[in-house]
Amino acid sequence: MRLETLRLQNLRCFDRAELTPAPGINLLLGPNGAGKTSLLEAAYLLSHGRSFRAGGREALLRRGETAFTVYAELTVAAGSRHRLGLSREAGRWAARLDGATLGNVGDLLERCAVVCFEPGSHALIAGGSEERRRFLDWGVFHVEPEFLPQWRRYQRALKQRNALLREQARPDWLAPWEAEMAAAADPIDDARRAYAGALGSWIGRVAGAFLPELGPVELSYRRGWPDETALAALLAERRGKDLARGHTTAGPHRADWSLRFAEAPAREHLSRGQEKLCALACVLAQAELHAERRGEWPVIGLDDLASELDQAHQRRVVERLLAGAAQVLITGTELPPVLREVEAALFHVEQGRIDRRR
Ligand SMILES: Nc1ncnc2c1ncn2[C@@H]1O[C@H](COP(=O)(O)OP(=O)(O)OP(=O)(O)O)[C@@H](O)[C@H]1O
Ligand SMILES: [Mg+2]
Repeated sequence: MRLETLRLQNLRCFDRAELTPAPGINLLLGPNGAGKTSLLEAAYLLSHGRSFRAGGREALLRRGETAFTVYAELTVAAGSRHRLGLSREAGRWAARLDGATLGNVGDLLERCAVVCFEPGSHALIAGGSEERRRFLDWGVFHVEPEFLPQWRRYQRALKQRNALLREQARPDWLAPWEAEMAAAADPIDDARRAYAGALGSWIGRVAGAFLPELGPVELSYRRGWPDETALAALLAERRGKDLARGHTTAGPHRADWSLRFAEAPAREHLSRGQEKLCALACVLAQAELHAERRGEWPVIGLDDLASELDQAHQRRVVERLLAGAAQVLITGTELPPVLREVEAALFHVEQGRIDRRR
């Protein structure tokens, strides 16, 4: 997939702005606070329906405004061109595809594949399970069409069960929701497990290039309730405990995954820089797996690459990017030395303006 145009209206510091990225590598350079990360955020939003930054969706809205829009024109491998629009006003999303209003934002996100590595990405390694689950689910969602309906079905039933738990409802009232959760849980687990297996192999390849000193890596996936246990029976058994806690303590919403390197078996054995490289390996592995499965690359955003990694590692990353065919958006305050000799489109971003320089 390739972004031909990215247009923002009332997003963060931009009132109106347009970026027309080239295929291949694009550098978005400018001073601190210029709006570089916000451009990556806008592209990411069309693919994930949320930002990678903390602060909630409302923080995206330019101060003093009531609605923002991100609009993109993209071409897909088959050669067709699509127009995507995502707006938010009064706490509600509105999505448009090729001029038609969509009933479901998920139908828009499905069309657009953007992955990003940014300063917060190391949470994939060092943070809580929610980030990792979201990361995994985004990948599954883009390669497995049956995943989203099952995921929604599960989330709906979980919400109902949790509401009953909070109300201290009679335990037998939980049963229908537990049956519904259990029915969706197995397909969710199957899809995640299959994806995690493939992702683990790709992470091994990318991490082998970035962090060869850590040796082979293994991804272990945990589904959120014990193996060999039927979820419906487990939920019934845990009613008392869950009523006391006020939430559901087992199921796919508790799934997680982790990486274990032969030469760094515990997460605490990784330096901060290694954590970042590891997170970057996960993001690029996801992009490469997507390219393998979908026959086309997602757009890859790398926020502040130069400030995150040393030059030798930046060089390895750039070599990897050049070996693929993805459109890449890299931000920075200055032109990174490792990119001086690389053919790339150059944009200057400052005070809500974007100018092409090369
Ligand atoms: N909701 C908002 N309304 C108006 N301005 C905002 C809003 N949110 C953020 N900003 C401003 O938008 C600007 C762009 O932020 P952004 O993080 O994109 O900058 P950046 O170019 O990535 O900077 P850095 O190099 O420091 O990472 C900042 O000056 C920030 O204060
Ligand atoms: Mg930034």
